[in-house]
Amino acid sequence: MKILITGGAGFIGSHVVRLFVNTYPNYEIVNLDKLTYAGNLANLKDLETKPNYRFVKGDIVDAGFINTLFETEQFNAVIHLAAESHVDRSITNPLEFVMTNVIGTVNLLNAARTLHKNNPEQFKRFYHVSTDEVYGALGDEGMFVETTAYDPHSPYSASKASSDHFVRAYHDTYKLPCVISNCSNNYGPNHFPEKLIPLCIHNIQNSKPLPIYGKGENVRDWLFVIDHARAIDVIFHNAKEGSTYNIGGHNEWKNIDVIRLLCRMMDKKLNRPEGTNEKLITFVTDRAGHDLRYAIDATKLKEDLGWVPSVTFEEGLNLTVDWYLNNKEWLQNVTSGDYQHYYEQQYTHR
Ligand code: NAD
Ligand code: TYD
Repeated sequence: MKILITGGAGFIGSHVVRLFVNTYPNYEIVNLDKLTYAGNLANLKDLETKPNYRFVKGDIVDAGFINTLFETEQFNAVIHLAAESHVDRSITNPLEFVMTNVIGTVNLLNAARTLHKNNPEQFKRFYHVSTDEVYGALGDEGMFVETTAYDPHSPYSASKASSDHFVRAYHDTYKLPCVISNCSNNYGPNHFPEKLIPLCIHNIQNSKPLPIYGKGENVRDWLFVIDHARAIDVIFHNAKEGSTYNIGGHNEWKNIDVIRLLCRMMDKKLNRPEGTNEKLITFVTDRAGHDLRYAIDATKLKEDLGWVPSVTFEEGLNLTVDWYLNNKEWLQNVTSGDYQHYYEQQYTHR
């Protein structure tokens, strides 16, 4: 089986690539990534010498390039993760999100459709990795299930919702063998320090302010990234064509509580007196259109395919903090270049 994984140099993609390369030595894994600011080949250093792994640099928005790649490589399946993924960047530059997340996805669907049309036995699966943010925001009660109506609010979630609709349309119209999963917020190693948890780990290390939007009351349902990769493996191999699965850890936290836990954990790890890091918490202007609460009901995944998370939040966060403390060079590299410039802009536009 030759599988194309898109966005494999990013946060979640790198864990999916590693899991597939190491678990299935008989599969050929081709990782296609544009290497945007979020893509980093250092995330995959340990795989460079593996005979069943290959990296291809390229842009999914370039239809000509994608069509030629599919024609040459004759993939048996696609796992599609490449995307622009940060809500705040989507507020500043929505068009980039339309290009990569919508046009890029449709380019891949078209190329896959051609392979499938020419040889339906050969092309087995188009797996689209998506987010729970397509469902919009919850109030204090309830959870997202697979049948919850789409109601995206940010340009990021609108672009992901659109891409999900295209995937379903290609399944219904052309019988392309698609599956979709919608996952809650991930955390773990290789996470770019623009998202809440890695940003705050980075800032705590450097004794910089921890920017909390609004009052910190927004709720997210956090899942350790390796558990997401395990779920993708199970769904890729077992889900019925045309099906959708929600993935989540039953692990809801208010932002302020996540950051307080992180502060306490890092006081200990950095040998700072208790309460030192909490003093860095700084409440800043809220994000425009900030979704109040996300919560995933992953019962279908558990009942159909037996997946459950493998670590608790405290265990996963502990592993994550240790990873960042042991990989200072990684953090140093990704925060050089235009990273500082981006942050200055962030705080002036909000
Ligand atoms: P990320 O931003 O860390 O990585 C995205 C990767 O895609 C990067 O390696 C980047 O270089 C690549 N990429 C971007 N534009 C590209 C293009 N035009 N052509 C080729 N490659 C391109 O994102 P992530 O957090 O790893 O998310 C991966 C996928 O999972 C996304 O589709 C995202 O919507 C989805 N998702 C993320 C989360 C989360 O919490 N991070 C939760 C649920 C779903
Ligand atoms: P983020 O990690 O950007 O993920 P998403 O917006 O996709 O859920 O943000 C997680 C939560 O943390 C969200 O409610 C916004 C909030 N947040 C902050 O309070 N401060 C920050 O600096 C960032 C990046 C996010």
